Amino acid sequence: MKLTLALLCFFITLVVSRKCTYHPPNNISYVVTGGKSGAWSSACEASTTADFAYRDSLPEYEQNCTPVNTWGPQAYEYPRASIKEQCDNTRWQQTRVLRVIEKIIAKEYNYCHHHAPKWTPPDTPEFRNSKICSPPEKSRKKNFWNGIDCTHFTSLVYNYAFGAHLNTATPMQACGVDFAPGKSLTINVNKTEEFEIGDILFIGGNSASNPLTITHAVIWTGIVAVKGNGTFGIDTLINNLAPNQRKAAQKYVDEHGGPIYVIADSHYNGPNYRPFAGWYTGAYTFARRLINIGPLDHPDQPSGAKYTNDGKCMYTRPTEEEEDDDDEQEENEDIARIFRI
Ligand SMILES: *[C@@H]1O[C@H](CO)[C@@H](O)[C@H](O)[C@H]1NC(C)=O
Ligand SMILES: *[C@@H]1O[C@H](CO)[C@@H](O)[C@H](O)[C@H]1NC(C)=O
Ligand SMILES: *[C@@H]1O[C@H](CO)[C@@H](O)[C@H](O)[C@H]1NC(C)=O
Repeated sequence: MKLTLALLCFFITLVVSRKCTYHPPNNISYVVTGGKSGAWSSACEASTTADFAYRDSLPEYEQNCTPVNTWGPQAYEYPRASIKEQCDNTRWQQTRVLRVIEKIIAKEYNYCHHHAPKWTPPDTPEFRNSKICSPPEKSRKKNFWNGIDCTHFTSLVYNYAFGAHLNTATPMQACGVDFAPGKSLTINVNKTEEFEIGDILFIGGNSASNPLTITHAVIWTGIVAVKGNGTFGIDTLINNLAPNQRKAAQKYVDEHGGPIYVIADSHYNGPNYRPFAGWYTGAYTFARRLINIGPLDHPDQPSGAKYTNDGKCMYTRPTEEEEDDDDEQEENEDIARIFRI
């Protein structure tokens, strides 16, 4: 009996001291193929979440290994998803992205610099301090040691939904040559109708600077905020922001004529729905689309952002002249459209 216990202990020690392996993100040009354009049904709707129970049964990250640093073990890649025959490809993927976002937000994870939110770091000062996770006073969670940051949130959404494990370093996810996912889009911040569900929007650190260093990533939900304090109520959305960002967001809401859209991101105290207002609109740079993109451009089309030698993604705002050129081009296209009719 003693011998068995000793052997068991030895075995456990061996297992625990094994270093976690590195699971590199895949080089995303990945979209789910198949489906039938325009077709939709309640069966399609149901099929967007049908395999969630199976996915929940899979390990999110490598178990029983010693993390090499405070980020913990890397996330595993979920299996690739497939679309049932008679469902519109874009709608299926967009619906699934929304369902995954909903699911992750409901977990009430914290904001942590971790690769996998289910991983609970060892109870030591090295692994549990306010530089790694938002401290308890900011957190609305019972277990504030389970969390993810912004680019791990975007990656988890696409990984869980489609088995697409994006590069989780913010500069790389935004503008890493050959590593940034999907296709870059230079959508003007005031043309919100051009964003599509699932687009990843990149935000700079400081609204006032030019060029801006990209520090944040959010997902476009396409949901229009409503009045009040429901899930998508503007009061709730503003309350989900860091306290020092609420005033600017409220000001934008008060002054803005059009609809206020809901974005989903991990910031401040974890993954949640927040308003596309205030800092987000002020420091928005460009976006990337992973769904409904058609053939990928290679090299990536210009986004105004560049990966620098010191490992940053720097975005230079277009000059007013360039903006005017864009507007003029659009006007010309409109005119061409009118004359064709
Ligand atoms: C990523 O994909 C692009 C486009 O297919 C390819 O040219 C590039 O070499 C790939 N990069 C890596 C590191 O595999
Ligand atoms: C967006 O609209 C606001 C308000 O009209 C304006 O101040 C701002 O310059 C616009 N931003 C861009 C990038 O066009
Ligand atoms: C939400 O708004 C309703 C209606 O204004 C109010 O009665 C209720 O107390 C609010 N709930 C919270 C949690 O603020």
